Amino acid sequence: MFKGLSHVAIAVPDLQKAIDRLAAAYSLTAGKIYENREQGVRLAYVELGNSRIELIEPTRSDGPIAAFIDKHPAGGLHHVSLYVDDVPVAIGELGKRDDVSVIGDGKLGKNAHGDDIAFIHPKSFLGTLLEIEQAPPEKK
Ligand code: CO
Repeated sequence: MFKGLSHVAIAVPDLQKAIDRLAAAYSLTAGKIYENREQGVRLAYVELGNSRIELIEPTRSDGPIAAFIDKHPAGGLHHVSLYVDDVPVAIGELGKRDDVSVIGDGKLGKNAHGDDIAFIHPKSFLGTLLEIEQAPPEKK
């Protein structure tokens, strides 16, 4: 079912400061900044060749990322994202299991690039929020 690591996501209180910090200390370069108004976040990706670091900053005080930053003011690891062949099929299979909790009843979301995504609750993935994402053609 799983086809590799898409990204690890770090929630940050200030996206530009995070981008500047990674550049200054680690020579890691973030690409363009995306805004997702629905989710109330701004995002940027640091390309690592075979995977990425996703940096997420809340733009509203009422969303899940803002709540995470309230608990972790300096930021921290927010989720891990794995590729699957087909998000609806994967969610259908995982959703049948009593020991896997799909967030939002399996209703699919979209990532910054318009691909299907869904989330698995941390209580059913070793205490870590799991995002599953449509694999690009070369990963299938
Ligand atoms: Co993500």
